[in-house]
Amino acid sequence: MQSKFEQLKTEALLAIKSVADKMQLEDLENKILGRKNGELTNLMKGLKDLTDDARKVVGALANEVKKEIELAMENKKNELLMLDWSKAIEKERLDITQPALPQTESGTFHPNTIIQKDLEDFFTSMGFAVLDGPELESDFFNFSAVNVPENHPARDMQDTFYIKNHPGLVMRTHTSSMQVRAMLKQGAPLRAIVPGKCYRNESTDPRHEHTFYQLEGFVIDENITLANMKGVLEAVAKHLYGEETQVRLRPKFYPFVEPGVNGEVTCFICKGKGCRVCKNTGWLEIFGAGMIHPNVLKEGKVDTTKYQGFAFGFGLTRLVMLKYGIEDIRHLQSGDLKFLKQF
Ligand code: PHE
Repeated sequence: MQSKFEQLKTEALLAIKSVADKMQLEDLENKILGRKNGELTNLMKGLKDLTDDARKVVGALANEVKKEIELAMENKKNELLMLDWSKAIEKERLDITQPALPQTESGTFHPNTIIQKDLEDFFTSMGFAVLDGPELESDFFNFSAVNVPENHPARDMQDTFYIKNHPGLVMRTHTSSMQVRAMLKQGAPLRAIVPGKCYRNESTDPRHEHTFYQLEGFVIDENITLANMKGVLEAVAKHLYGEETQVRLRPKFYPFVEPGVNGEVTCFICKGKGCRVCKNTGWLEIFGAGMIHPNVLKEGKVDTTKYQGFAFGFGLTRLVMLKYGIEDIRHLQSGDLKFLKQF
């Protein structure tokens, strides 16, 4: 009987050695140590037929054999595990000397973004801060605070989207909604621009869109005059369209400025001679501006005995359309890649 145990041990250890994976090891474990029909289990069942003395000796051997087989199996299990790990690590290895894949696609900036960034750079070089504000705005900041009281006919010029069950909220119709917010937050003196999205209730056509971009600007300080305003706007016009560009200001009513002007620049296409784009006038209308109305400064808690200011609003979308010769404003919101990839 002893030799049977010895033989089983030799065979088992050999078999364990040649196992290649976890499944094989489990099968082998079952075959040798299985409770029901394992080879060692069966052999051990024979112990009960031995004499007491013999059982002691053979029993001790049997236990040792069992332990040795179990240990060998445990070691094999660990060995297989290590193998798995090193395979996984090998897979994850990063060859940093491998040449990069060729770049096939890269994105482009939206034309609005290109002009916006360009103007942000230009204005920051003149000491302006760039501010951001909410597009879903209160009726107060969009209208009342900038001198457009409720029921004033000026509200008709800027119809917008109202929010159901929230009578105090509107989609902002212009970036002028940030004027009083900025004054209340930062106080005077103040020098800032606000580029951003605006909304109006328009029936859309090639020149009108419900969503468009403006770029607002305002300066509040001591001794600010209309001349300062013209100087800044001329600098912007020359930056956009070249040194020879001129600015023309004509009176226009905006409730939040007094005096208010409509700003035009020499048509950069025909250089003022008259063409289709400027409708033969030689001028392109690109902004509204004026000296900030005292009512607006007061809403912003600015001391009107000490400070004055000017404000201007560029149609950023209009600048983009002029610059790139885009004939239909609706392209800009279309998300059409064929359109967007040209920039
Ligand atoms: N907010 C005006 C508009 O949307 C433009 C403007 C801004 C005019 C600042 C004057 C001063 O039409």
